[in-house]
Amino acid sequence: MSCELLEKLQQAVADVEAQLKVDASKDNIEKLRIAFLGRNGLFPALSKEMGGVPKELKKDVGIAFNSSRKAIEEALENAKNAFAVKEEAANALDVTLNGREWEIGHKHPISIMIDECVNTFRRMGFIVAEGPEVEDVYHNFDALNTPKDHPSRDEGDTFYFADGRLLRTQTSPVQIRVMESQEPPIRIVAPGRCFRRDTPDATHGMNFHQIEGLYIDKNVSLADLKSVLQQFAHEVFGEKVSIRLRPHFFPFTEPSVEYDFSCIMCGGKGCNVCKNSGYIEIAGAGMVDPNVLRNVGLDPEIWSGFAFGLGIERLAMLRYRIGDIRYLYENDVRFLEQF
Ligand code: DAH
Repeated sequence: MSCELLEKLQQAVADVEAQLKVDASKDNIEKLRIAFLGRNGLFPALSKEMGGVPKELKKDVGIAFNSSRKAIEEALENAKNAFAVKEEAANALDVTLNGREWEIGHKHPISIMIDECVNTFRRMGFIVAEGPEVEDVYHNFDALNTPKDHPSRDEGDTFYFADGRLLRTQTSPVQIRVMESQEPPIRIVAPGRCFRRDTPDATHGMNFHQIEGLYIDKNVSLADLKSVLQQFAHEVFGEKVSIRLRPHFFPFTEPSVEYDFSCIMCGGKGCNVCKNSGYIEIAGAGMVDPNVLRNVGLDPEIWSGFAFGLGIERLAMLRYRIGDIRYLYENDVRFLEQF
């Protein structure tokens, strides 16, 4: 009787091991647990048979019973862990899963416009220069020959820091920084962000972008300026666009001009974009003032040059027919997706 029970216990362990070899799936492991260890399973039934074991064998059979049950518990636990590891590995590379779609962004219309302008000027031999957005009064105003009482210096127009520095109101201070740090001939364009205390509306923001241009060499004339701007107009807006220079005033150029494109929308006939004038103002420009050259230690009797400043937002709004500058800064993906 006792030997029979011992045999049954050994057989149970062997059975579980054999069956796990055939099928070690999660479902089968659970089935085996129920069949051997569950409330109505083999082990509770065998424990009832313990009652008939002769007294002198009880201790040994009891030990065998416990160790067999433990062996089965362990075998099932190990199989379960092995299955979990396998399952995880399989999930890690499930070739039947759908791929993940990444949404790739693209350049902002202002960046696209800057790149296009820079590339156009590069082809004409200009290289890119940069300057700081936090400027000092000297580079933003004084060195650029701006009179002490010029309205643009006013706190109502310019953002000042407590230490007297300011957010540059134009990219023109890059001209000074470049002339201070390198010898002519100089041919640079400087794209960048500028800041003014404007009340935002359809054509104004508190920050905007310009591209500054500077050309310093011997015997530079207004004709050189005109040809560079003309070439720029043709490359960026097409051969049909003509340009017009109008007399103007800037402290850092003499003579100074404003530079217009024939209207890109109506071709010069007159429309609401050009306010029926046939022309659209694009930039300020002029011949570098001798005072500016002197401020950076260049002799105006030897060196001459031209400079210009283009408004990027303006160009982008014309290129993409954008009616309100504020769209460019709202970061609305539905708007930005279109470019
Ligand atoms: N800095 C001027 C502005 O912000 C634009 C400008 C005019 C730049 C004439 C120039 C220039 O380089 O020569 O209105």
